[in-house]
Amino acid sequence: MSPVIPPNLALSPIVAGAWRMADWGWNAEQRVRWIEQCMELGVTSFDHADIYGGYRVEALFGEALALKPMLRQHMQLVGKCGIKLVGEARPEHRVKHYDTSAAHITRSVEASLRALQTDHLDLLLIHRPDALMDADDVAEAFTSLRQAGKVRAFGVSNFTPAQFDLLNSRIALATNQIELHPLHLSPLHDGTLDQCQRLRLRPMIWSPLAGGALLTGGDERSRRVQAALQAVGQRHGVSAATVAYAWLLRHPTRPHPLTGSQRLEAIREALAALQLKLDAESWTEIWQAGSGHEVA
Ligand SMILES: NC(=O)c1ccc[n+]([C@@H]2O[C@H](COP(=O)([O-])OP(=O)(O)OC[C@H]3O[C@@H](n4cnc5c(N)ncnc54)[C@H](OP(=O)(O)O)[C@@H]3O)[C@@H](O)[C@H]2O)c1
Repeated sequence: MSPVIPPNLALSPIVAGAWRMADWGWNAEQRVRWIEQCMELGVTSFDHADIYGGYRVEALFGEALALKPMLRQHMQLVGKCGIKLVGEARPEHRVKHYDTSAAHITRSVEASLRALQTDHLDLLLIHRPDALMDADDVAEAFTSLRQAGKVRAFGVSNFTPAQFDLLNSRIALATNQIELHPLHLSPLHDGTLDQCQRLRLRPMIWSPLAGGALLTGGDERSRRVQAALQAVGQRHGVSAATVAYAWLLRHPTRPHPLTGSQRLEAIREALAALQLKLDAESWTEIWQAGSGHEVA
């Protein structure tokens, strides 16, 4: 049987997440400088969603990009849609809910393109699994967006293997963006990463540092993980954060971790992990600290 070739996921090995950008309090010059510096380091892919920063982050990024539009041709933009938040920016929403109708996907992408001041997204993800998702409807929207040149590739986020299979049976998906770190181990054991490996597609990993808790969390489990990351880091002469990224990168699916930090030093710590291949014992030491028990 010939292997199934998934759509090419042409992202930089480390992707910069823009979720928290509205909290950074930067002006457009500071934002474009950050974008440029990330790109100089080799982080050319940026992760977005329509809802980030209460529907504000895409426009902040787009305003910065408009100062140096030439950057666009050297970067990849990832977008997400499908969640409808209640709040000032969307007074017409009564209840937080999901909407994966073709009409909403198309409208959402068009709004993202306007806000980001670009003509296409390199990758579009359905943000969360929607119990009311009609896979044929989503596939139709994706196909039209691709034909219009507005989106190059498609994927999902936070989908179980069964949910992924359903949509992938209608249109070839490029990735599943999932949460994974030593305090959230389930994708290693619930079939999510097995599916990625079977389909030869690279997952994207969100909150690789558990939103910072991996390095600063005060509970017993976090402290155990911190001690393991530090011990491995000391042996290799790198920071605990670098070890946390190396732990993810060690997986055979070759994941793309998403950074969440505004600090370039934190981005450098993520990139340093590309040079560090953990042995199975060190990897397991960290898994064990997270799971609380040794392997069977
Ligand atoms: N698909 C989804 O459902 C989903 C969900 C959540 C996130 N995401 C994506 O994933 C990206 C990354 O998620 P995330 O922001 O949660 O990533 P993360 O790297 O786990 O957390 C980033 C947070 O940790 C802090 N941090 C970083 N390095 C640290 C260190 N050495 N010590 C202490 N704190 C540190 C950062 O603060 P500083 O800025 O001060 O360094 C920042 O507040 C997001 O931007 C978004 O694009 C996707």
